Amino acid sequence: PFIYFITPTHFRAAQKADLTRLSYTLSHVPNLHWIVVEDSDSLTSSVAEILKRSRLPHTHLNARTPSDQKMKYTDPNWTLPRGVEQRNAALLWIQNQLSGVGSGVVYFGDDDNTYDLRIFEEMRKVDNAGVWPVGIVGGMFVETPVLADNGSIISFNSIWKPDRPFPIDMAAFAVNVTLILSHPNALFSFDVPRGYQESTFLENLGINRLNMEPLAEKCTKVYVWHTRTEKSKLSKGMVEKLTKKTGFNELES
Ligand code: UGA
Ligand code: MN
Repeated sequence: PFIYFITPTHFRAAQKADLTRLSYTLSHVPNLHWIVVEDSDSLTSSVAEILKRSRLPHTHLNARTPSDQKMKYTDPNWTLPRGVEQRNAALLWIQNQLSGVGSGVVYFGDDDNTYDLRIFEEMRKVDNAGVWPVGIVGGMFVETPVLADNGSIISFNSIWKPDRPFPIDMAAFAVNVTLILSHPNALFSFDVPRGYQESTFLENLGINRLNMEPLAEKCTKVYVWHTRTEKSKLSKGMVEKLTKKTGFNELES
């Protein structure tokens, strides 16, 4: 099955660096379609160039986060959910373009995470919704489902908001395209409590702990890490420019 790898991305000093590194990872993966959705008013040529150089099958979209939901440059990173509008744009593209295609797997891959190539082969096994451990997230080295001897999910080892239906990160799961097509209203939303994006989406797709498929050798392997690129230290002048979003050109970005 084809993998549809959805990446929201926003302008910042390290955007090109992160996307370049990600493109080099993804270029090792056969049968992968990269859907990159810029958080911007229009497509930018710097992102288009990276997509073109990757030689991957790809779709380049843009969907701007509404300004009342957009964090300021100086806000702490957790104040508002990120990637909501962008992931929805990609899901709508899938609903429009892949109806009738039938096979495929959808994964939400942040631009700054780190992916072991073995995660992609796990994704291809997904019939319904697959789940696996994620490194460096939720205050832990590894956040993971906990399995019974028979391989079923009995709980999650999460310590951050462990009472969520699915106390997991966006990087921890992939879903079959057929589920996306049969649940067109399963979208992300700004109206869910903090930390509940994953849970709400999966519940809206009809996923529960029983029909979720634990992968990565019964959840004993870490093939994806929630690495975060440090916010670049910039001069006051640069931060002002960034806030006003003027005066930037290809060289600076
Ligand atoms: C964690 C999760 O791993 C994300 O999947 C989730 O979207 C996010 O929390 C959340 O709570 O919303 P984190 O590393 O904290 O991720 O988030 P970022 O990497 O800053 O953002 C996630 C993705 O959205 C990135 O690909 C980023 O480029 C993009 N993004 C971020 C935007 O498109 N617009 C923004 O304003 C900020
Ligand atoms: Mn991130």
